[in-house]
Amino acid sequence: MAKASSKKVQSLILLAAVLLLVNNAAAAPAGGFLGSWELISQNAGISAMHTQLLPKTDQIAVFDASVWHISRLQLPQEKRPCFWHHNKLTNQTAEDCWCHSIFYDYNKNAVKALKVQSDTWCSSGGLSADGRLVSTGGFQYGAKAIRYLWGCDTCDWVEYPEGLAEPRWYSTQVMLSDGSFLVYGGRDAFSYEYVPVEKESNKAAIAFPFLFETQDFLERPGNPKGRFRLENNLYPFVYLLPDGNVYVFANNRSVVHDPKANKIIREFPQLPGGARSYPATGTSVLLPLYLPRDTNKPVDAEVLICGGSVREGLYLGEEEKRFVNALDDCARMVVTSPNPEWKIEKMPAPRTMADGVLLPNGEVLIINGADLGSGGWHCADKPSLKPMLYRPNAPEGQRFAELAPTDIPRMYHSVANLLPDGKVFVGGSNDNDGYFEFAKFPTELRLEKFTPPYLAPEYAALRPAILEDQSDKAATYGKWVYLRVKSSEPLTINYVQVSIVAPPFVTHGISMNQRMLFLSVIELKNNVAPGVDEVVVAAPPTSALAPPGYYLLSVVNQGIPSHSIWFHLK
Ligand SMILES: *[C@@H]1O[C@H](CO)[C@@H](O)[C@H](O)[C@H]1NC(C)=O
Ligand SMILES: *[C@@H]1O[C@H](CO)[C@@H](O)[C@H](O)[C@H]1NC(C)=O
Repeated sequence: MAKASSKKVQSLILLAAVLLLVNNAAAAPAGGFLGSWELISQNAGISAMHTQLLPKTDQIAVFDASVWHISRLQLPQEKRPCFWHHNKLTNQTAEDCWCHSIFYDYNKNAVKALKVQSDTWCSSGGLSADGRLVSTGGFQYGAKAIRYLWGCDTCDWVEYPEGLAEPRWYSTQVMLSDGSFLVYGGRDAFSYEYVPVEKESNKAAIAFPFLFETQDFLERPGNPKGRFRLENNLYPFVYLLPDGNVYVFANNRSVVHDPKANKIIREFPQLPGGARSYPATGTSVLLPLYLPRDTNKPVDAEVLICGGSVREGLYLGEEEKRFVNALDDCARMVVTSPNPEWKIEKMPAPRTMADGVLLPNGEVLIINGADLGSGGWHCADKPSLKPMLYRPNAPEGQRFAELAPTDIPRMYHSVANLLPDGKVFVGGSNDNDGYFEFAKFPTELRLEKFTPPYLAPEYAALRPAILEDQSDKAATYGKWVYLRVKSSEPLTINYVQVSIVAPPFVTHGISMNQRMLFLSVIELKNNVAPGVDEVVVAAPPTSALAPPGYYLLSVVNQGIPSHSIWFHLK
């Protein structure tokens, strides 16, 4: 009896140790490899303000804005005629013969010119269930636009300038469990609306007072210009929750919203310390969801928010030219918990305008931005050149690691996107009202790739390779998926994980629809062929856990991810 129980204890200890190993597999990058940078384009022609990785084409859609009627890439002959822009404010009409959008082929490092006319400045977007970019909102004549872009060699934008009911500048788009899109907010748009079917237009939006309530102002008694509008609640962080409702975070408050009934179901504790949404521009991710084998078990959803600025950051930068420390904390909260509370940790450095990238092994890369100030033109200083790794499962105090620095500042209007090879595409930075080469922070046209520590050469032997081509692997909800994996040593069940990550629409420190799940591993069969193992996983059981569409699937061995393949969930 005693023997049996001590054996049980022993195996429990062993199990705990193994779990700890799996969770912390990449906790201490071997050989101290802190990642590396490569310049992949000296001049992409446009500054990367918005990006969306597109499935199956090796291309990333990159675009900025047409408001300036200029870029560094002429509209090619075959895309002409040029277009005429009328500026409502100045009542001036000007011809525009420049590109504001490209496809960037991240394998060939090639640029292909595209033509977008309705102004996409500070717009929102997402990848539809069938794999095209659906882009919404923007500036002036683009503010109500809905646009579509497929990722093929001959594809170009299809635009519907009057699709939305309300103008939406700095709004957030989110996919619901049925594959439809909602768009929340935007400047002076205290409402939300569904993206209608193509070619149709919305008649009315649905009121959402939470976005009115969360605006910030700075009172300036006696100042003839009146109070200063800080906002701090634009580009809200919005996530689909495992029960199909929607988590909405704006400024320092957050709620669960039932969009069908338009009801706020619960409100969470406020997040202290300052402001988090645009222009304060903290960054946020929904931490990976872990799917249990027993599909009746509930799945926890935890939100992470890092950095931001003091409430009056925009005012200090814009009016007083003073740049104070950005916020230097990360806060996380299990938003499905009956007793939710923010758990706050200090980052190694302050940060505003960072991008939060979910990596295929479940770590979070905090990259780009600045140490001082807030979002907005010329409102920040001291570029944050070092990316930061956040390991959600490491013990508190051991979660952050500062990585190798770049020498290119990525300030306001920067982007970062995970690529199928596990590297991170980095672009943008435009702190100027136009294209300026000689500003303190010039309009940045260079593109880089960042190689995270898990791609260190010393991990090469651990890295599995999925034996599938790059075309999409279709999967049905709840069904098993069979993956053949090549590895130098046979995989073991306790060290193997399979992740899927939905490629987000990235702009202004927000990664819309970014979502990652660790699938339940059903079985591992070693040596189904020489040097080949088979991993059997269960596709997510419901579309509220993982809405339909394209994900990057990766097999992770001891924290080291494989090159990913496209996984098409329907
Ligand atoms: C705008 O300009 C046009 C022609 O240049 C002029 O006819 C029109 O009255 C102007 N509109 C306003 C509102 O100033
Ligand atoms: C949240 O922000 C509001 C201003 O928008 C402020 O009055 C309130 O004190 C903040 N809450 C916390 C907990 O800091």
